[in-house]
Amino acid sequence: MDRLRVAVLVSGHGSNLQALIDACQTPGFPAHIVRVISNVRDAFGIQRALKARIPHSVIDHLEFKNRTDFEAQLNDELVSCSAELVCLAGFMRLLTSSFVKKWQGRLVNIHPSLLPAFKGLDTHARALAAGVKIAGCTVHYVSQDMDAGPIIAQAAVPVMPNDSEDILAARILQQEHIIFPLALKMIAEGRVKIKHGHVLFDEISLDDSVIISPRLT
Ligand code: GAR
Repeated sequence: MDRLRVAVLVSGHGSNLQALIDACQTPGFPAHIVRVISNVRDAFGIQRALKARIPHSVIDHLEFKNRTDFEAQLNDELVSCSAELVCLAGFMRLLTSSFVKKWQGRLVNIHPSLLPAFKGLDTHARALAAGVKIAGCTVHYVSQDMDAGPIIAQAAVPVMPNDSEDILAARILQQEHIIFPLALKMIAEGRVKIKHGHVLFDEISLDDSVIISPRLT
């Protein structure tokens, strides 16, 4: 079976990119990364791509006079590497609705909260300030509204009384590294369908239970 051609967009450290690289290197994994693109010149994610010998490029948004020009270049690169799916892995740039429309159903994002709670930035600080007892992360298809769109996978973690932002972020990030590859695998296997704005799975097994139940360990 042909593996799904995936492009990964990053802006920073790229630990989620690394989780996707590691998964794609597993024998039999149904997807492979054909391009890593960063909008930030010195993003560590680029080093990870280099080390894994994955073609990569920087499209620095600061070098474009507007979002449309930046996204035109981004689109050209994605088309030129024949990407079939685009994973936003810590990509901290809002995409315009016309770009999202072009890639609708082929664009997925990971967000460090249990959406629809805590959309946007500073999610961990806001979760702590709200006193929630469970936090987590979400992989979802990107829609025209920010941090919205059909939810593919979620994982939950407990919030402990003395958690700092950093401690909570690290606990959630561990789960991000599990659910992003898992979501990618399910998409690449063609098991993810969208119906009436919600994701449905063709088949779900106990191995996929992170998608449907919280992990409170
Ligand atoms: C991750 O926690 C990801 O969920 C978050 O940025 C971090 C990137 O870490 N993304 C967003 O907040 C997007 N709205 P990484 O660069 O180590 O993967």
